[in-house]
Amino acid sequence: MIMSRQVEAVLGYLKHALKARSKYHIHSPFVFGFYQNVLKDEHTYTQYRVVNRLRKELETASRFIKRKDLGAKCKDFPCDQRFVRVKDVVHHSSVTRKKGEFLFRLILQYKPSSILELGTSLGISSIYFGLAAPESKIITIEGCLDSANLARENFLKAGLKNIQVITGNFEEKLADAFLEMPLPDLVFFDGNHRKEPTLSYFNQCLQHVHPGTIFVFDDIHWSLGMEEAWNTIRLHPRVKVSIDLYHMGIVFFREELSKEDFTIRF
Ligand SMILES: C[S@@+](CC[C@H](N)C(=O)[O-])C[C@H]1O[C@@H](n2cnc3c(N)ncnc32)[C@H](O)[C@@H]1O
Repeated sequence: MIMSRQVEAVLGYLKHALKARSKYHIHSPFVFGFYQNVLKDEHTYTQYRVVNRLRKELETASRFIKRKDLGAKCKDFPCDQRFVRVKDVVHHSSVTRKKGEFLFRLILQYKPSSILELGTSLGISSIYFGLAAPESKIITIEGCLDSANLARENFLKAGLKNIQVITGNFEEKLADAFLEMPLPDLVFFDGNHRKEPTLSYFNQCLQHVHPGTIFVFDDIHWSLGMEEAWNTIRLHPRVKVSIDLYHMGIVFFREELSKEDFTIRF
């Protein structure tokens, strides 16, 4: 019998919740620091207001953009549609507030001075990065021209000048990004959520890591393929600590850490 996607998703989440460690079972001081300072930091940073205002503006916009059909994240969204409402793009593609604020705190904690993002869309996650690290260099790659242009407008509205958008396919443009940013401190993988492309981007980015680099993968349990990709990534010999938050996976390469996988409820 074929299980519906919803049932699969509920079972997957239950499995994750059962596996998740409580703070009393996190013995690594490094991961405990992540838990306390990133996951559990409930402070309402004033910068959040900038994104909330912008998100609201996009959610109520009557404007349409021409959408290029890229990536796999189309399960609830008609990817073959040429013109789409901006508000539908925000709803289906942009990071949620919870994820965005988590990314913001991750940046505050680890202070990356160079950030690379695969998948800009309208720029919401890039804005969280930019607000958390206004002095850092941020490069974000997007294959859909109209989305990239709207993201540029949004960066201006948010008062951010440190984000560079590269337009084109990841497959072609990653090399250009590495010319400008040979050793990124943080890479956010948020486009083309399929097994083979995700592993291919991971392997390309792996050539450009240093021990302090952090990789963040969105939607690691979104499909069987993404779960398989995540398992390959976390088991990779160069990966030291992996943290499975269900909706996101975080990977650290620090040499001083012992190889260990953590599942934490978020
Ligand atoms: C989930 S959205 C990114 C959302 C964005 N990070 C945010 O939270 O605001 C993924 C984006 O990646 C782009 N994308 C997917 N596959 C791509 C590829 N192979 N090359 C370039 N862009 C791609 C899509 O056009 C889409 O805009």
